[in-house]
Amino acid sequence: MQLVPATTGAVLFSLLLLFLTCATDAHNISRILAKHPEFSTFNHYLTITHLAAEINRRETITVCAVNNAGMSDLLSKHLSIFGIKNVLSLHILLDYFGAKKLHQITNGTALAATMFQATGSAPGSSGFVNITDLKAGKVGFGAEDNGGKLPAVFVKSLEEIPYNISVIQISQILPSAEAEAPTPGPSQLNFTALMAKKGCKVFADLLSASDAENTFEDNLNGGLTVFCPTDGVMKDFMPKYKNLTAAGKTSLLLYHGVPVYQSMAMLKSNNGLMNTLATDGANKYDFTVQNDGEQVTLKTKIVTAKITGTILDEMPLALFTVDKVLLPRELFKGSPTPAPAPAPEADSPKAEKDSSPPEPLTPDGEPADQAVSDNGSVRFNGGIFVAVGLSLLLGAFVVV
Ligand SMILES: *[C@@H]1O[C@H](CO)[C@@H](O)[C@H](O)[C@H]1NC(C)=O
Ligand SMILES: *[C@@H]1O[C@H](CO)[C@@H](O)[C@H](O)[C@H]1NC(C)=O
Ligand SMILES: *[C@@H]1O[C@H](CO)[C@@H](O)[C@H](O)[C@H]1NC(C)=O
Ligand SMILES: *[C@@H]1O[C@H](CO)[C@@H](O)[C@H](O)[C@H]1NC(C)=O
Ligand SMILES: *[C@@H]1O[C@H](CO)[C@@H](O)[C@H](O)[C@H]1NC(C)=O
Ligand SMILES: *[C@@H]1O[C@H](CO)[C@@H](O)[C@H](O)[C@H]1NC(C)=O
Repeated sequence: MQLVPATTGAVLFSLLLLFLTCATDAHNISRILAKHPEFSTFNHYLTITHLAAEINRRETITVCAVNNAGMSDLLSKHLSIFGIKNVLSLHILLDYFGAKKLHQITNGTALAATMFQATGSAPGSSGFVNITDLKAGKVGFGAEDNGGKLPAVFVKSLEEIPYNISVIQISQILPSAEAEAPTPGPSQLNFTALMAKKGCKVFADLLSASDAENTFEDNLNGGLTVFCPTDGVMKDFMPKYKNLTAAGKTSLLLYHGVPVYQSMAMLKSNNGLMNTLATDGANKYDFTVQNDGEQVTLKTKIVTAKITGTILDEMPLALFTVDKVLLPRELFKGSPTPAPAPAPEADSPKAEKDSSPPEPLTPDGEPADQAVSDNGSVRFNGGIFVAVGLSLLLGAFVVV
C-alpha cells in the first residue's frame, strides 16, 4: 500500500520543517532594540516583563517603541510592574505594519488587536489601538478607550522584517485607563485554591497543611513556577509520601516549586538544569528540563514527568500540571522501584531518544553524559537532531 509510507514521509517532513523553523530563530526583539541606545529603557522593560520572549515567539507582529524620554513619562506614573506590563503589551500589535502599510491603511483608519487584548488582561473588548492616517502624511495612534484621541504619531521605522516583525518608533506612550488600572498582585491570589480547582487538590491540600506553603508564598511576587502532580497521580503516591520523614515531606513539596517565573514559552526554549525551592547548598534537589518539540519534560534521576497542562501562566506566577510526582534522588536514592521501560510513543518526535543506547552510569549512579555543563549552561544537541531528522527523511523518501 503506497499511502502509508507517503503519509509517514509527509509527517516526518513536517516534523523536520517544524524543527528547522524553530531552530532558525526568526527574530530577537532585544537584539534589534540593542542597536538603538535611545530605546534602552523600553528594551529593559520588555525583558523584565517577559514580553520580549512573547514577541520572539510570535510571527506577524509590530512593536511600537518609545524612546527613553517617553518611558520616563510612563515610569513617573509609578505603576506596579504588572501595570507596566499591561501598558507595554498595548504597544505590541498582532499584525504587521511596516511604514508603507501605515501610510496606506484601507479607508484611512483601522483598529489593531494588541497583546494586551490577547492575554486576557484587558476588560471586555478593549485592548485595541486605533491607527489613522492624518493630514500631511502623519499617522496617528491612540488606545481605543482614549475617547477618540490619537495622542501619538508615527516617528520612524527602526527595523522591518516583512512579514515577521516591524519595529517602529511612536512619539509617546499611548494613554489607556484600562491598561494603567491597578492590577491585583499575585500575593492576593490564593494559588492553592486555584490548584485545587484545576485537578490538583491532593497536592494543594498537602501544601496548605505544610510549612512548605510559606516558602512558596515568599516567592510569589519575585517569580514562582509550580509543577503540580494531578490528583490520580498523588493518590497513588500517598503511601510513599506517608513513609517520608517530616523533613522529607517538606523537601518533596518544595521540590515541585522553582523560585523563578518560567512561562511555557521559556520552558520550551530553555533546556537545562533547574534549581528548586528545596535546593540548599550541597542538597542539590535539582532536575533537568528538556523539550521534544512542543512536549516539555522534567527529568529527575529517578523519573521523567511530562507537563500536561497550564493552570496559570501569567508573570510572575506559572502553575503547570505534571503526570508524575517528581522524585528527587536525595530522597529516593536506592529506592527499590525499578525505572519502568518507557512506553513506545508513536505520536511524538522522540525517535532520536528511542534509538540511542542507555546512558552509561558512573559509580555514583549518575548518567556520565549530562547535557548540562557545570555552570548550568546547556550544550546544544540540535546537530544530532538534524542528523536523525535528515536520515529519517531520507529513509522516508527511499520507502516512498
Ligand atoms: C520569518 O519567519 C519565518 C518563520 O519563523 C522564517 O522561516 C523566515 O526566515 C523569517 N523571514 C525572515 C525574512 O527572517
Ligand atoms: C536575544 O538577544 C539578546 C541580546 O543580544 C541575548 O542576550 C539573548 O540571549 C537573545 N535571545 C535569544 C532567545 O536568542
Ligand atoms: C472601507 O469602507 C467601505 C465603505 O464604507 C466599507 O464597505 C469597507 O468594509 C471598508 N473597509 C475596511 C477594511 O474597513
Ligand atoms: C479612530 O479614531 C478616529 C478619530 O477619533 C475616528 O474618526 C475613527 O473612526 C477611529 N477608527 C476606528 C476604526 O474606529
Ligand atoms: C485559600 O483557599 C483555601 C481553600 O479555599 C482556604 O482554606 C485558605 O484559607 C485560603 N488561603 C488564603 C491565604 O486565603
Ligand atoms: C516504607 O519504608 C519502609 C522502610 O524503609 C520500606 O520497607 C517500605 O517498603 C516503604 N513503603 C513504601 C510504600 O514505600
